[in-house]
Amino acid sequence: MKVLITGANGQVGWELQRALAPLGEVVALSHAQLDLANADAIRQALRHAAPDLIVNAAAYTAVDRAEEEPALAQAVNGDAPGILAEEAQRLHAALVHYSTDYVFDGSKGAPYEEIDATNPRSVYGATKLAGEKAISAVDCAHLILRTSWVYGARGKNFLLTMQRLAREREELRVVDDQHGAPTWSRMLAEATASIVSQCLHQGTVADRLRDKGGLYHLSAAGQTTWFGFASAIVAQGEKLPRMTPITTADYPLPAARPAYSVLANDKIARHFGIRLPDWQHSLGQCLELN
Ligand SMILES: NC(=O)c1ccc[n+]([C@@H]2O[C@H](COP(=O)([O-])OP(=O)(O)OC[C@H]3O[C@@H](n4cnc5c(N)ncnc54)[C@H](OP(=O)(O)O)[C@@H]3O)[C@@H](O)[C@H]2O)c1
Repeated sequence: MKVLITGANGQVGWELQRALAPLGEVVALSHAQLDLANADAIRQALRHAAPDLIVNAAAYTAVDRAEEEPALAQAVNGDAPGILAEEAQRLHAALVHYSTDYVFDGSKGAPYEEIDATNPRSVYGATKLAGEKAISAVDCAHLILRTSWVYGARGKNFLLTMQRLAREREELRVVDDQHGAPTWSRMLAEATASIVSQCLHQGTVADRLRDKGGLYHLSAAGQTTWFGFASAIVAQGEKLPRMTPITTADYPLPAARPAYSVLANDKIARHFGIRLPDWQHSLGQCLELN
């Protein structure tokens, strides 16, 4: 099997390179090597590599900046996934893609299921939802994995930011009224590899995902707030700043976020036997690597 990974230097893309390596030949393309804002470049790269599986880990993930660059966010998050799906169909390949809890508005107050109505509150959320729809509109074998609050030992993320701020500041003021599930990039990559491996045991990934593919939620078990997440991070550090919970209104940002975006992960457990550990457990493991 030949696998093409986009966004190979991102949090998830980097972990995917490692997790998918035992399953086949991996072609890992960074942003510099393949720009998803360039439709022709996507088609050319896919036709040249002719993979059996495309894993799209690239995305315009700057949630606040997206409010100022909606066209670029739409090209990368909304349009490119549809082009990848068309190319996958042409190659009889499968497409694995990641989406976000930010497709929801947060008003449900209970874990969101795949069948729940979407209503993004930000440009980022809206463009990611457009990407899901663009893939679904193409009749290719695909898997869309909606996840949440991704962090890892590498890249730009909340974990690394909190560790830095804890070293630099006496007090950390962190939002305590947004609820979600912090999910380790390595867990996402390993769950993806497990699904791919299961599919390979039963034929090609494309054959299998044509039957069992579609939209799935995949996030860590449990839930917390950004304040709870930050507190758990700094508790493991050398210097303990004063931790102050604040509200979303105390810390205005350009993009609105859902107040509650916990995902229900039962469907992926039922179909693929995958359940990610509690967020605190994975955080502990990730911190041990730092
Ligand atoms: N991060 C989260 O909290 C979160 C939450 C829910 C869902 N997700 C989803 O999970 C997936 C993986 O995200 P992640 O956390 O790994 O994000 P990430 O660390 O920001 O990685 C995204 C990668 O995409 C690349 N990229 C950006 N624009 C691109 C373009 N035009 N063409 C090609 N590559 C481009 C980035 O490269 P540069 O850095 O060089 O631009 C980066 O390497 C994405 O689909 C994201 O929407 C993420």
